Amino acid sequence: MTPETTPVPESGRRCPEPLYGPEFAADPAAAYRRMRRTGPTAPVELSPGVRATLVTGYDAALHVLRSPETFSKDSRRWRDMADGTVPADCPVAPMMAYRPNALLTDGPEHRRLREAITDSLGGVEPHALRNYVEQSADALIDRFAAAGEADLLAGYARPLPLLVLNRMFGCPPEYGERLVEGMAGIFELVDAEKANELLTTTVGALIALKRRTPGRDVTSRLIAHPARLTDEELVHTLVLLIGAGTEPEQNLIANSLRLLLSDDRFAGSLSGGSLPVEDALDEVLWSDPPMANYAVHFPVHDVLYEGTLLREGHPLVISFAAANTDPALVAEQHPGNRAHLAWSAGPHSCPAQGAARLIAAVAVEKLLDRLPDMELAVPVRDLEWRPGPFHRALAALPVSFRPAAVTRAAEGERPAGDEASAAADRRDSAPPGGRRSAPEAAAPASGWARLLAWWRGE
Ligand code: HEM
Repeated sequence: MTPETTPVPESGRRCPEPLYGPEFAADPAAAYRRMRRTGPTAPVELSPGVRATLVTGYDAALHVLRSPETFSKDSRRWRDMADGTVPADCPVAPMMAYRPNALLTDGPEHRRLREAITDSLGGVEPHALRNYVEQSADALIDRFAAAGEADLLAGYARPLPLLVLNRMFGCPPEYGERLVEGMAGIFELVDAEKANELLTTTVGALIALKRRTPGRDVTSRLIAHPARLTDEELVHTLVLLIGAGTEPEQNLIANSLRLLLSDDRFAGSLSGGSLPVEDALDEVLWSDPPMANYAVHFPVHDVLYEGTLLREGHPLVISFAAANTDPALVAEQHPGNRAHLAWSAGPHSCPAQGAARLIAAVAVEKLLDRLPDMELAVPVRDLEWRPGPFHRALAALPVSFRPAAVTRAAEGERPAGDEASAAADRRDSAPPGGRRSAPEAAAPASGWARLLAWWRGE
């Protein structure tokens, strides 16, 4: 790539492909095919009026991700935001606007913040993590096992990662409840500003608590790290970890379950007792990566790439989904090949790949183990995807199964030891043998609301 002064087609001048509507969510592959016709980059709109360039080629994506000197992650360089073309409260601002965290910084500042994260996450024992996932999974499955039907998105894939993170971060129950409420507001757009404030103040309170009484948890390790994060950096790092660790994780779990339950290649092995969960995870990471388009970068100067001018400060979004399905690569995709870009690449690649994979694998295995005859309650083509430019996320995953026994294994092992919630579990426990339970039908429709009710022991 070289800076250029001669007029050349500017990516932002071609007609931008909208990445926010239900059409894109229903068939993103068609949009990627259209965009590839004009080369490895294409103009897009992330939300109405918010322009960006999508990188759809695998090689081009790697080039951007591995050239931090030319492509910055610092969104204070975002020209349209700085000059007011894009309003500060546009829907994609929470995912793009600057905050002092590892995701949005470059160079030594990024290395310092990232090292604190990798060291703190590195202290989580895989064995302990597996236990957290199994206990949280059991508690959630107990909520719907006797009902014979469930929405695995709202009742399982969505709440499970946050329960696991609460354990990793050493969150006491009352803080966990507020984090759940804050995340619910942000994801369901109830009152994003209020929810964000709740999340931030709760994380602040958690930091103060862990300063007074440190424990063997990620929060305490972050506070004690030699990088000496300020309180502001600590808050933004924890909020980043919660956001990064929940939405993509739920999508990996849900998208893998969808594949396992709908594809004959996997269904055959399910009844045979060998569960190719790892293969399903690999396939989803290639074909439906949980973060479909992200890793927003800003050229630090005008750059000419394959005949297209990429303007300084104009957002470049990496399409992990399009890059993974770049026709030049398709022949190489097979289980065990992990050259996909679902975790990104370069200095900002996901620092929690091992933990993230383990959480998803255990979550899926546990569910298939407890409800082995589970099947989709609707044809796979009727499943809907949630609109949004960044994620590949199902709106719901309804399944039916033979009503199963609840286990008392999770009792007393409630995430963060919540007594009220354990009481709720006891109340919902149904005798084994297949009686359908009423509580599920009466439960609030939203998974977050249900999780919140559960934390409160309602
Ligand atoms: C299936 C689950 C996950 C997927 C698919 C995923 C994917 C990604 C991707 C694509 C990025 C790069 C984003 C960018 O550059 O803009 C990233 C970064 C990151 N992820 Fe993950 N992630 C997952 C789970 C997690 C978990 C469980 C955690 C922590 C608890 C985590 C923490 C982070 C952090 C801190 C970053 C920023 C790293 C940096 O900028 O240096 N992720 N992840």
